[in-house]
Amino acid sequence: MNKYLKSYLISWIGGKRLLRKTIDPLIPSDIKSYIEPFGGGGWVLFYKDKWADVEVYNDLDDRLVNLFRIVKHHPDELIKEFRYQLASRKLFQEALESICYTDIQRASKFFYLIMRSFGSKGETFGAVKKSGGGATPSQQNILERINIIHKRLDKVLIENLDFEKLINQYDHERAFFYCDPPYTSGEGYKTTSTKAFEHERLRDCLKNIKGRFLLSYDDSPKVRELYKDFEMIEAQRQNGINGKNPKNKVYKELLIGNYDIK
Ligand SMILES: C[S@@+](CC[C@H](N)C(=O)[O-])C[C@H]1O[C@@H](n2cnc3c(N)ncnc32)[C@H](O)[C@@H]1O
Repeated sequence: MNKYLKSYLISWIGGKRLLRKTIDPLIPSDIKSYIEPFGGGGWVLFYKDKWADVEVYNDLDDRLVNLFRIVKHHPDELIKEFRYQLASRKLFQEALESICYTDIQRASKFFYLIMRSFGSKGETFGAVKKSGGGATPSQQNILERINIIHKRLDKVLIENLDFEKLINQYDHERAFFYCDPPYTSGEGYKTTSTKAFEHERLRDCLKNIKGRFLLSYDDSPKVRELYKDFEMIEAQRQNGINGKNPKNKVYKELLIGNYDIK
């Protein structure tokens, strides 16, 4: 396969592209369901062709959920809509100001703004001066990726719930939750919730589940304190957006589980 067609759809703030290889061997093989309450760009989900018989993608951001639903159910219409949305500062500005009437148009606009923006934030056009990247990934590869993720989502359930409702809904003894919540420091996400993310509520919810969970978080005193009764291991990755630059610092993360992860 063309190396630019790896199994993913979009970059996402806090996306686990650089941690997938570390996370993969920690996911148990005897699970009956694999659930991502904080799906984002779905980097871990898409890393494998299948994690379990039942797979669930969830996020509270309805723009993401709409995009993945459209990729799952209407890939050809999305491709038609997106085909001539080329990388250009003018088109980017027009897309920012455009009004959408259908879910397919909404998905196409969101996808375009994420693909062609600086840091995948969907806010400003991501111009690049030297090497590839930024706003200039190949249009052909983007269209082919829609088809790849369309096939991958065939049996994946897509939900748009708050994590607590989702976890309670899908919990059972052989369930596995890979949780990648917003970090205790850093960016907020544009979800439908007006409240700041409640880290204690997540801990209280996870502490009582019947299934297993693996959690990735920023390595902070708050997280260490919240999960002091659980197993944790340290992991490191290059800092996101400018990770290729050796001057950028390494980012420390924690992987936490309610089963033997060491
Ligand atoms: C760190 S990102 C997940 C990144 C993802 N693992 C990836 O690889 O792209 C956290 C996600 O949690 C979502 N989120 C925030 N609050 C939430 C809530 N209360 N319930 C469910 N999802 C939530 C955000 O919309 C965001 O996409």
